[in-house]
Amino acid sequence: MTSVLRSAVTGVGGYLPDRVVTNDDLAKFVDTSDEWIVERTGIRQRHQAADDQPVSDLAVAAARRALEAAGRTPDEVDLIIVATTTADLTFPAVATIVQRKLGCPVGIAFDVQAVCSGFVYALSVADGFVARNRSQCALVIGAETMTRLMDWTDRGTCVLFGDGAGAVVVEPRAGEGTTADRGLLGFALRADGTKQELLFVDGGPSTNGQVGKLRMQGNQVFRHAVVNISEAVTAAAADAGIEVSSVDWFVPHQANLRILQGVARRLGIDEAKVITTLDRHANTSAASIPLALDQGVRDGRIKPGNMLLLEAMGGGLTWGACVLRL
Ligand code: UT7
Repeated sequence: MTSVLRSAVTGVGGYLPDRVVTNDDLAKFVDTSDEWIVERTGIRQRHQAADDQPVSDLAVAAARRALEAAGRTPDEVDLIIVATTTADLTFPAVATIVQRKLGCPVGIAFDVQAVCSGFVYALSVADGFVARNRSQCALVIGAETMTRLMDWTDRGTCVLFGDGAGAVVVEPRAGEGTTADRGLLGFALRADGTKQELLFVDGGPSTNGQVGKLRMQGNQVFRHAVVNISEAVTAAAADAGIEVSSVDWFVPHQANLRILQGVARRLGIDEAKVITTLDRHANTSAASIPLALDQGVRDGRIKPGNMLLLEAMGGGLTWGACVLRL
């Protein structure tokens, strides 16, 4: 067996802001109902960051928990990648703010912008450092304050999103080049810029100088989701050299319960193997996969050695999937 270096996830952490907003809370000021939201999306509530809570604070809280779970300290971190679409400031990157707030030494820190697919993209970028021995202790964080991008008069979007952050610690581990190895084993990343108008924010520093609001043709995005995600999952499994059916847990991006069920049905995945947090978290964009991972690990369902399949699709359109053995 050849010896290879793998990027192993050694700790997971999550953070949700204290404030909980139920569907009934939203129905007080927008023309919607708990019944419609639950039936069409599976969402029952979402968390919302306090007005004075920037996304970097959410990221730091999740990162601290991930470091603790990994038995690592901030002074050991040499790489921070934050997947976010809701940065504190236009610049610097949230990752450098996290670096300062956590008290990490000088290292590499930058953000990845792939909207809801950001965490899968960021893991792949981290793999490029860790599996080449260029980082000994990396933090990969998905952190979002999506509620800041909502048009609260648009019932087609404002009921769908929530705030939160999830983080993992990634470290190099020797493997034998087989699917029994611990670590990131396969990826499939995709983007189709021609679908921009389906899901975007109508502002930015280089256009109108505004932050903007999220605009989405939900049913059009929905049409692409199941097909795109299923193709990427199949490709990531092939890249890893495994069968989709051999995966222990699916840890999907949480956009809509009907998408999760549609992907599971199309790929012949038992729904009991799908980690779902949508009902309590709503769609937290790049944070939703690490938050779901954290949930599964903390409640004891996901165990060391389990084979996991992560997948997401979001604005761009971007989408992708990743196979990892915990
Ligand atoms: O994470 C990024 C990726 N995002 C996604 O994957 C989101 C994908 N899309 C979706 O999840 C779904 O398309 C939605 C949940 C956004 C919408 O569900 P839908 O079944 O596709 O509904 P629709 O947009 O086709 O709208 C159906 C009806 C419309 O009314 P009419 O025109 O039939 O009278 C909407 O106005 O539902 C209405 N509607 C609502 N009614 C009550 C839309 N939003 C709401 C609402 N409450 N919040």
